[in-house]
Amino acid sequence: MPNFITDKFIKPSLPFSDGGYDFLWEVSSKNSDYIMVKNSKSKFFITIKPKKDGQHIVKAEKISRPSQVLFLQQALEIYAKKAQCNILFSNIKSSKLKKENSIIKDLNFFAKNFFTGKKNIYLEVGFGSGRHLLYQAKNNPDKLIVGIEIHKPSLEQAAKQCDILGLKNVILIDYDSRILMEFFQSNSVERIFVHFPVPWDKKPHRRVISPYFIKEALRILQDGGTLEVRTDSELYFDYTLKTFIEQKSADVRIYKNFDLEISSKYEDRWKKLGKNIYDIVLTNHKINEKIDKITKLEFTFCYNIDKIIKNFNPKLFLGDGFFVHFETLHANSNKMAVIKTAFGANERAEHLFIIIDENSVRYFPNNVYAFSANMVAHKIIEKWLNE
Ligand SMILES: C[S@@+](CC[C@H](N)C(=O)[O-])C[C@H]1O[C@@H](n2cnc3c(N)ncnc32)[C@H](O)[C@@H]1O
Repeated sequence: MPNFITDKFIKPSLPFSDGGYDFLWEVSSKNSDYIMVKNSKSKFFITIKPKKDGQHIVKAEKISRPSQVLFLQQALEIYAKKAQCNILFSNIKSSKLKKENSIIKDLNFFAKNFFTGKKNIYLEVGFGSGRHLLYQAKNNPDKLIVGIEIHKPSLEQAAKQCDILGLKNVILIDYDSRILMEFFQSNSVERIFVHFPVPWDKKPHRRVISPYFIKEALRILQDGGTLEVRTDSELYFDYTLKTFIEQKSADVRIYKNFDLEISSKYEDRWKKLGKNIYDIVLTNHKINEKIDKITKLEFTFCYNIDKIIKNFNPKLFLGDGFFVHFETLHANSNKMAVIKTAFGANERAEHLFIIIDENSVRYFPNNVYAFSANMVAHKIIEKWLNE
């Protein structure tokens, strides 16, 4: 992740604009400052944290980190110059600046575009090095290949490969697949691939495959569409088979040591170790009801910003299958507050900021969509802000 350390630091007054970036405003807590940065494609925070001996580290804030690392690198370079930093360490090398890539999409793109019921979609969850995804894209030019991956460097690497190979039928997003599937219209996807998911034997709630994931997969798969899980883990195989077999209107096939046309990095590693590889394929046979477009959750109350800033304390609310955690508050003298939160269903949380000023309250960096667990959490957030 791009960052630099400086021992000299003259805070520029905000806002200022340079090189296509607007540095808008700043909020602070005891431990760090956030600066809101905007370019034509995205908005994000850079964060400044004090280190020992008067040094500061300036880096990307994790939750709002844009998918395109190029934006961060450029913003940090501009800020370093403007703040007249004396850089002691930096991992930003201009020659290494990554190219902007339009294959990478954000959540709002999915919210807008995936209700059309567009067909011919292949979805790959956790594509890692992207070998299988690139193979499918090259060999199926008439399909739209959607790749979901939470590891941003893998995402950027795959996007770069798509660019080099001139693939026009791929879109990629860094988001939790367990939430993203809710954007797809019913019966719109032909194949879902989940190859070598992390087994999480000690923390099964973190697994991609869950009864909820399967329910959503069966909803979005076409009649005859398949969810294809490939794993080397016998525990994960047993667990997946058990959850697949419980499904109605679907059939299950299993294969052992079946060679696909393409082998991923993980697969090569397990094969070298002589491990067995299992495929479990679930086929959907149900036409599902169309769903309505999922709407954004908006705030409806007026809040007393002074009270929020004065009374803030970290707080955790635990409900039945969901939670809301108010983690930190950053504020400024213009009555602006930025609250870091995590909320949602226990097994698939959203990590977001709530930005409050005198005129508005909003989630940042993404909108929050009205999935069931989010709706309950959103109500608690509204109530808590109002108290
Ligand atoms: C063990 S790797 C396998 C990668 C690739 N499928 C292969 O066969 O080489 C698992 C990948 O899933 C990604 N992942 C884990 N949980 C995820 C989630 N909820 N949504 C999307 N990707 C996820 C991880 O970042 C990781 O790259």
